[in-house]
Amino acid sequence: TVTEAAAKAVKKPAMPDAQTVTEVTHWTDRLFSFRITRPATLRFRSGEFVMIGLMQTDEKTGKEKPLLRAYSIASPSWDDELEFYSIKVQDGPLTSRLQHIQPGDQIIMRPKPVGTLVHDALLPGKRLWFFATGTGIAPFASLLRDPQTYTDYEEIILTHTCREVGELEYGRQLIANIRNDEMLEELIGEGFHEKLRYYPTTTREESPKMGRITDLMRADEVFEDLGVAPLCPQNDRAMVCGNLAFNIELKGMLEEYGLREGANSDPAEYVVEKAFLD
Ligand code: A2P
Repeated sequence: TVTEAAAKAVKKPAMPDAQTVTEVTHWTDRLFSFRITRPATLRFRSGEFVMIGLMQTDEKTGKEKPLLRAYSIASPSWDDELEFYSIKVQDGPLTSRLQHIQPGDQIIMRPKPVGTLVHDALLPGKRLWFFATGTGIAPFASLLRDPQTYTDYEEIILTHTCREVGELEYGRQLIANIRNDEMLEELIGEGFHEKLRYYPTTTREESPKMGRITDLMRADEVFEDLGVAPLCPQNDRAMVCGNLAFNIELKGMLEEYGLREGANSDPAEYVVEKAFLD
């Protein structure tokens, strides 16, 4: 009968916290982004991350269990879907499989957003720097479409350092779309994007601006290029997201400029988070 069938369907162990993939874009052989359905009840602050993943069979017990990793939400909090930006690691436990997802597939998302790259962790300031390498641009993709970013600051500078030119494409399109987004303009106010500066650099392939952002800062080249003063604790706030070595090096530099690390419970001048690496 129908009720028996329904009872059976309920008993069958369903994947916990399943969401459906709606779109997948492959940017390079190392990078892809994907969109999933958003639970109607999910609220998050721009810059936060969630745990997402797939089921996998435990080799010892033979039981199915979730394999999860932290992923920054790249979409704005007003979007009705969620977007993520990921590296593909050929022997990575999760991304070796995740890179093959297709629209209609299901993945797991634990609906508990957390993270330190949030406006609440910073004291008021004039200029906000987003420093990213590789997939570390993801939380900033969300923050750059948050009206608060533009109402709280006079100027927003996104720096993005990647090995190759193709790895900058996700960010390049993001910035171009923000500059042409009429809905955002309505939401935030006319000309909001004039506050936004974009500073992409590459380290292993020829491009108009080459070098690690850390080296370009030490040489004052970034500040000369952008026509701004070097960072100071009175005016500048910073959010950092990239590979571990980059985070550590830049954190040291920000401290030298006199900025202090903030937290949700104790806001200050900068915050750091590690980009996901499988
Ligand atoms: P480089 O090519 O000189 O290593 P990855 O793809 O390995 O995560 O690196 C992303 C980008 O971050 C690369 O352009 C890389 O430059 C740069 N990078 C790596 N380590 C640091 C660091 N300590 N400081 C600044 N940039 C870094």
